[in-house]
Amino acid sequence: MSDGNLALSLRRPVEADHPRLVAVVDEWWGGRRMRAVLPRLWLQHMTGTSWIAETPDGRLRGFIVGFVSPDHPDTAYAHMIAADPNLRRAGVGRTLYERFFEDMRGRGVRRVTAVTWPGNRTSIAFHRAMGFGVDDGPGTQPIYGTPAHPDHDGEDEDRVVFLRDL
Ligand SMILES: CC(C)(COP(=O)(O)OP(=O)(O)OC[C@H]1O[C@@H](n2cnc3c(N)ncnc32)[C@H](O)[C@@H]1OP(=O)(O)O)[C@@H](O)C(=O)NCCC(=O)NCCS
Repeated sequence: MSDGNLALSLRRPVEADHPRLVAVVDEWWGGRRMRAVLPRLWLQHMTGTSWIAETPDGRLRGFIVGFVSPDHPDTAYAHMIAADPNLRRAGVGRTLYERFFEDMRGRGVRRVTAVTWPGNRTSIAFHRAMGFGVDDGPGTQPIYGTPAHPDHDGEDEDRVVFLRDL
């Protein structure tokens, strides 16, 4: 952990972790129905570019699932990152992203991209703190005060697009 007060170990997820992840994601996202965004395939095909954070008692404290873009091998995509709500602002998210960045750099990846809902102010603040810029280029407009792509993922599915050079 960044504050040194809590031992946090990171490991690669395995498929058997899928039930414990889907069991918490809705709660960890504040009640938003997220399990549909994390189908088992993430724990079958993307474990080599993802991480799970646990405390010594074996409790799940955070995770990141991402991948190196098959179309753009210099770019990684961070699909989901989350920290246990009981351990927010304690560096879990930072620790996960820093490990992800280090891992991606080692694979020759040059940039990381991610998206979030414009209403997710915590995610926007967190990504900015982690060095991501917000895409404010063509096609964007301010939504809840942040440049976003309207209908990015379909009707009413607006997204803020983040980009960070490694
Ligand atoms: C976003 C999330 C992963 C951040 O995890 P975290 O472990 O609490 O974040 P960290 O403690 O590592 O924070 C790193 C920095 O991000 C910023 N930050 C994090 N949470 C913040 C908040 N609620 N408000 C403002 N800034 C915040 C701060 O600059 C923080 O550094 P500091 O605490 O030294 O000031 C966590 O809030 C979460 O799981 N949210 C629900 C899931 C989600 O929305 N994920 C992102 C979209 S995929």
